[in-house]
Amino acid sequence: MKKLFSIVFILFFFNNLKAQENSRFFPKKDLMTFGIYYYPEHWDKKEWERDIKNISEIGFEFIHIAEFAWINFEPSEGVYDFQWLDEVINLAAKYKLKVILGTPTAIAPVWMGIKYPEIYVMNSNYQRAEHGTRAVQSLSNTVWKDFTSKIVTQMAQRYGKNPNVIGWQLDNEPEAREDYSPSSQDAFQLWLKNKYQTIAALNHAWGTAFWSQTYIDFSQVKIYNANLVGWWGTNPHALLDFKRYTAEIQTNFLDFQAAILRKYIANNQYVTTNYTAITAADPRKTKNLDFNSFTSYPNKGNSNLGDKGFRLGDPKELSFALSYYKQPNNVAGIMELQPGYVNWGSVNPLLLPGTLRMWLFHCFGGDLSFACSYRYRQINYSSEQYHGGIMKLDGVTLSQGGKDYKQAISEMKILRKAYNPNAKIPKALQVRKTGLLYNCDNIWSMNRQPQTNQWNAIGFFQKYLEIVKSFGAPTDILSENDNLNDYKVVIAPAYELVDAILVSKWENYVKQGGNLVLTVRTGVKDRNGHLFSSLWGATLYPLIDSKIDDFDQLVNTKGTIKAFDKEYIWDNWGDLVTPNKKENSWAKYSDQFYAGKSAVVINKIGKGTVTYIGVDTDDAKLERDVLKKVYEEAGATTENYPEGVYVQWRDGFWVAVNYSSTDYQLEIPAKAEVLVGNATLKPAGVTVWKN
Ligand code: GAL
Repeated sequence: MKKLFSIVFILFFFNNLKAQENSRFFPKKDLMTFGIYYYPEHWDKKEWERDIKNISEIGFEFIHIAEFAWINFEPSEGVYDFQWLDEVINLAAKYKLKVILGTPTAIAPVWMGIKYPEIYVMNSNYQRAEHGTRAVQSLSNTVWKDFTSKIVTQMAQRYGKNPNVIGWQLDNEPEAREDYSPSSQDAFQLWLKNKYQTIAALNHAWGTAFWSQTYIDFSQVKIYNANLVGWWGTNPHALLDFKRYTAEIQTNFLDFQAAILRKYIANNQYVTTNYTAITAADPRKTKNLDFNSFTSYPNKGNSNLGDKGFRLGDPKELSFALSYYKQPNNVAGIMELQPGYVNWGSVNPLLLPGTLRMWLFHCFGGDLSFACSYRYRQINYSSEQYHGGIMKLDGVTLSQGGKDYKQAISEMKILRKAYNPNAKIPKALQVRKTGLLYNCDNIWSMNRQPQTNQWNAIGFFQKYLEIVKSFGAPTDILSENDNLNDYKVVIAPAYELVDAILVSKWENYVKQGGNLVLTVRTGVKDRNGHLFSSLWGATLYPLIDSKIDDFDQLVNTKGTIKAFDKEYIWDNWGDLVTPNKKENSWAKYSDQFYAGKSAVVINKIGKGTVTYIGVDTDDAKLERDVLKKVYEEAGATTENYPEGVYVQWRDGFWVAVNYSSTDYQLEIPAKAEVLVGNATLKPAGVTVWKN
């Protein structure tokens, strides 16, 4: 026990150390700094100085360059030219702009693929990709890795000590794409050998006894190809491993690049990458990056909230990313933020004026250290010619997004003046700090076997996240390795894959006073993705002091549940729960042949509680009321912000934004100093105040 305590303490200590270290990249008093993507290689050299000067005059503090420019650095094999980039960096310095450099490995120069076609991935029809677009290189291919190593080394040697370069972004939107090429097949076999050691162990883990799938030797194993064997036929355990392998190859590729950079770069240059808003490559698995950054395009042409929602974007996108990428005890930033309309949404409307500013303040409230946007100038040719920028097509007229940015930058200056380095998180917020446990394995596993077409694995997670945010709780998305004891409430939404170590970590958290919320589909599978050979959910019985007799789904009808003197409806998923103690039931089914069975139960263990929410509803009303009661009983107050309204706290500032189509009246204490906006938070509105 003592040993365990010391390990936990050491982990905690190092995490905090990392936080202190990484904050050196971003002086606290700057709050959030602003930058923009610029592509000198897209424009006539004569325009560079004009553009860079304008970028600086708008108020941007850094530019982001070079992430797709390999051909400009190495026009033919081994012949390098960095002079043009030297010029750009010198211009940036002249206009007091810092620089983030992208490593250009998202797209290989044409000569490379002609000479070494094996650098490209193969799709599930075993067709090779070819030159012309991004993210089609095989990350397990040694030729590709050698070229990557050479170009990254060249760049690091040249710019690693340049005082104007503040950081590095690796590659572009690392998304862990599937690869069926021979190099990937070999790497997968190796990965499996390392993981399972013996073919018998693999056969067991993959359940190959089923349908004569048994292997005699690792050399026989190919990547399960859902395209050829059919989705239904695809072995779910093999598929889970393929997903894990693909994510790991991506992670290793990032770490590989970062390790090369680290040999040459100064200690004050950081290394990060721009993950997509909801990614397949778990950012927590990389070892050599300093912190996470991400990209977000909240408006994809969906209707979102109310009649203006199609102009305001999906509130849940940044909401998720902010809790996921800003990991406890570390800094984070947004690398690409949508600047206006894009050219790939289902419909690409104008944003409501102010929307980009609202997104920027949503990021600010989410404690990001920098915000950068894709891209400065709208381009008049090639694939993204309809995509908006900060500048319009003429290159000198601010778009609406540009005006929003400019305003946000000038408002940040007001906040910097008002910054109080001694501000402490308000007690009420500290007391409702919440963690949600997330593991890509669960999403992959449930996406393969949803069991009902009403199941949406990410949507289910987001439902809980949004409820908690509407309570005004500071919320982190956690991994199993994180320290849970910092959080008043920890929720494990549909956390399908567990093992004894995790379940006992949960139990310890509760015994010490934590409030754990478990839901349908939690704890029903082992790490290979096998359902436990026990009664449904039996691993959780000691925690919930109940049995789960079965689970149900409804078709073309809604079932009813009675709880808290109200009636609720459900149809997606209902666990039929029997608590050992009648008084532990919080909600009961009131129709169907099992009326009287429980849908929600509570159990007390040590100083804490376990709540089991055994039902998935569309309107989330029951889940919301149950959670509210959990916080109340734990001594934490909750707010009741409407959908799309977020009120966050950072560094002494309260920051409110509104993605809904109606005004929201904020309750701002009379003595507070309102620094941005006012108490009426309009759609796309921002209000910032200080108590
Ligand atoms: C991002 C990508 C950028 C740009 C942008 C357009 O996903 O990283 O390079 O293509 O989309 O919206």
